[in-house]
Amino acid sequence: MQLQNDLFLRAARGEQTERTPVWLMRQAGRILPEYRAVRNSLSGFIELVRTPEHAAEVTIQPVDLLGVDAAIIFSDILVIPEAMGLPYEMIEKRGPYFPKTVESEADLNKLLGEEAADNLTYVYDAISLTKKNLNGRVPLIGFAGAPFTIFAYMIEGSGSKTFSKARRIFYQNPSFAENFLEKITAATIAYLKNQIRAGADLVQIFDSWAGILPPAQYERFSLKYIDQICNAITEVPVTVFAKGAYFARQAMGKLNCQVVGLDWNMDIAESRKLIGENKVLQGNLDPCALYGSYQSIEDQTKAMIDAFGNHKHIANLGHGVYPDTDPDKVKYFIQTVKKYSQKNAK
Ligand code: CP3
Repeated sequence: MQLQNDLFLRAARGEQTERTPVWLMRQAGRILPEYRAVRNSLSGFIELVRTPEHAAEVTIQPVDLLGVDAAIIFSDILVIPEAMGLPYEMIEKRGPYFPKTVESEADLNKLLGEEAADNLTYVYDAISLTKKNLNGRVPLIGFAGAPFTIFAYMIEGSGSKTFSKARRIFYQNPSFAENFLEKITAATIAYLKNQIRAGADLVQIFDSWAGILPPAQYERFSLKYIDQICNAITEVPVTVFAKGAYFARQAMGKLNCQVVGLDWNMDIAESRKLIGENKVLQGNLDPCALYGSYQSIEDQTKAMIDAFGNHKHIANLGHGVYPDTDPDKVKYFIQTVKKYSQKNAK
């Protein structure tokens, strides 16, 4: 199907566009009252993720209500652990919780690798249905967690300030960690390929906990597996977002991906220099900027657009939008990107 608005995809491929495309990480869910209404009509987050009709509905809400240039499928990075054999719960106001974690070789051996992807039919169905209902309005982004971030949750069992339970394994038993990461990588590649087969136009890899590793460990235990995923996905463009991995920007420039996401701690000019001219950059307004006045949001957004220049850039925040952000402020950010990048179009 021909897309009516393919700015996001053209920009991701490195083509010059009429204006800078814009979307927000975590735009589906989190901030919209319309999302909470759907979620509250069900038993909770997990039922919503598993019901393609509802997942498709909340995926499209930000396209209708905010005017973003791309939709991202409503799901979670934690569906992969579950499909591998480690179910999660989502605890209200606290986040994910795994009743069982991976503690031994025997636990690891029980988990599925590549075949885990067969357990995620509900995600592929949600993608096909979303594509049908979007009817070509904007492209659809598929996603997965980076193997290291998934590993961290599967060992730790929940979020953590330090992830020290997960990180200590890199010192205590690195070969166990490598076997585990390989298994997650195999599941993730099969999962992303199925998402693409179902209709995902681009896939993004979220390495949310990248920033807690020392650089050498980041190369060995995270980037290596992201690199394998990038090499395996040849069907559509790939975006790699590794939060806090400022120390790995040069290496990111060498990945076989089209887009690199920047968080708001990363200086834009310095990132361009380190990552190189070939990659499209995505980001990177501080999510907190959206708590400012309309004037301040406009000033900050314009400064960001100026710093990236209006080529090879996809506008976004530097991480997911915070849950208590006013949707009108989000809309103002989006409108500012659209107007200002157009005005400046070369
Ligand atoms: O735009 C979107 O939000 C699309 C769907 C999406 C969700 N999670 C839905 C969700 C995406 C892309 C994710 C990714 C995700 N999930 C990441 C990587 C991105 C990032 O922010 O770093 C991570 C680390 C997770 C794990 C996770 N899921 C956590 C820590 C939490 C709890 C708090 C929160 O909101 O982040 C979740 C729950 C979750 N995933 C919610 C949503 C909308 C909130 C659940 C609810 O409705 O109560």
